[in-house]
Amino acid sequence: MMKTTRPNEANTTDWHESAFDIIRGLSAYTGSSLIEGLAKVIAKYPDADLGTAFNHKQVGSKIWAREKLFESLGGKFKHIVLLGGWYGVLPAMCFDDGRFDIGLLESIDIDPEVAGIARTLNAHAGERFRAMTQDMYALDYAKRGADLVINTSCEHIADLPGWLSLLPRKTQVLLQSNDYFAEPTHINCVPSLEAFREQVALSHVAFAGALKMKNYTRFMVIGTV
Ligand SMILES: C[S@@+](CC[C@H](N)C(=O)[O-])C[C@H]1O[C@@H](n2cnc3c(N)ncnc32)[C@H](O)[C@@H]1O
Repeated sequence: MMKTTRPNEANTTDWHESAFDIIRGLSAYTGSSLIEGLAKVIAKYPDADLGTAFNHKQVGSKIWAREKLFESLGGKFKHIVLLGGWYGVLPAMCFDDGRFDIGLLESIDIDPEVAGIARTLNAHAGERFRAMTQDMYALDYAKRGADLVINTSCEHIADLPGWLSLLPRKTQVLLQSNDYFAEPTHINCVPSLEAFREQVALSHVAFAGALKMKNYTRFMVIGTV
């Protein structure tokens, strides 16, 4: 009798091709621009660390960010600046969500490897999305005039208060950090939500919360510097 669970050799030897086919199928099924972008990234950037960027904890943290952002500040923004934007997963999730109306979202990251991936993932957004390679400490934030600044990579930033001091007073911010001290690239984790709130010292807090994950807790604060 034929075994129906026999592995398909082509699929096990070339997972990129298989993943591309499956995700393109999911894109057709869901009509999601994010999933369409993900299929393009898989085809164009086979070495991108998509397994980390799209694991359920990373995606869960960003769904949480998107929900609390909408509840706290609404969904209409002229200009969002995202720092440490990596592969642009949060922008893709916001562009994929009909509640959000975003004029321009700039994703800035110091790593030159990530801008192309972020652009491919967000290709659907056209002119509304830009990805740039730059150090977040070297930006002129007053000149940019963003109505929201997002940094979900605060655990990667050595001097968080120093970076926040570069933002014009009254800038609206969404900030995330975590207590995942065991990850070597996390150079500035915090042990608790209280410690994070103290570290960022916002003049107004619209939301502050903690999201328990399996190995760590993520912290988020939304408000005004
Ligand atoms: C691993 S990723 C993002 C993790 C985070 N939890 C998330 O998904 O939002 C952290 C990113 O911050 C970027 N980064 C670190 N220091 C930076 C700096 N000074 N300016 C801009 N980007 C920076 C890194 O290149 C990296 O892509």
